[in-house]
Amino acid sequence: MRTAVLASGRGSNLQALLDECSNGSLPIEIVGVGSDQPGAAALERSQAVGIPTRVFQVSDYPHRQAQEEDILIWMRENRVELLLLAGYMKVLGPQFIRQANFPVMNIHPSLLPAFPGLHAQRQALEYGVKVSGCTVHLVDEGLDSGPIILQEAVPVLSEDTEESLAQRILEVEHRLYPEAVRLLVLGKVVRTGRRVQILQQEV
Ligand code: GRF
Repeated sequence: MRTAVLASGRGSNLQALLDECSNGSLPIEIVGVGSDQPGAAALERSQAVGIPTRVFQVSDYPHRQAQEEDILIWMRENRVELLLLAGYMKVLGPQFIRQANFPVMNIHPSLLPAFPGLHAQRQALEYGVKVSGCTVHLVDEGLDSGPIILQEAVPVLSEDTEESLAQRILEVEHRLYPEAVRLLVLGKVVRTGRRVQILQQEV
């Protein structure tokens, strides 16, 4: 499945996806990686394995919608069938989501619907929850609000800092995101309204 990734930062989730592709356990072809940040480490990770990259810096466009239209054009040119957000720090606008005729997935470092948006791990610590985790979901027009594909819990320890919690969640993210993508690509993700069922049997 021809796949594009959008990432704004260090790209460790992108790296996990690239690694799973290269060892043959994730049946997608990452055909391009885009970023809104020209200096994103995610771009270097892609270039290191020969994957074309594109920068869509918002300040290069008259407005956000023009930036997103350009991303859509890039996707169409590359015949993209699946879009993965991996630490892409912009919310895609409703026009983009409506025009995207392919699934869009995201990973978020909390058990949604708890703690959407920025600094999810800090939000979890400040709230005082004992369990947090990560969520892979389909992207809709809201903020981290789309139908949930997979979630996994991670304990919050009394000695946790934002960094230590983020790191423990990240290790799970690196396993959960490729697994959710694999399920989707294998046709095991069945959506009925908001609810996503994961088929257990071979299809
Ligand atoms: C991850 O925690 C992800 O869940 C969130 O942004 C972070 C990106 O990290 N959406 P990385 O760039 O993949 O290392």
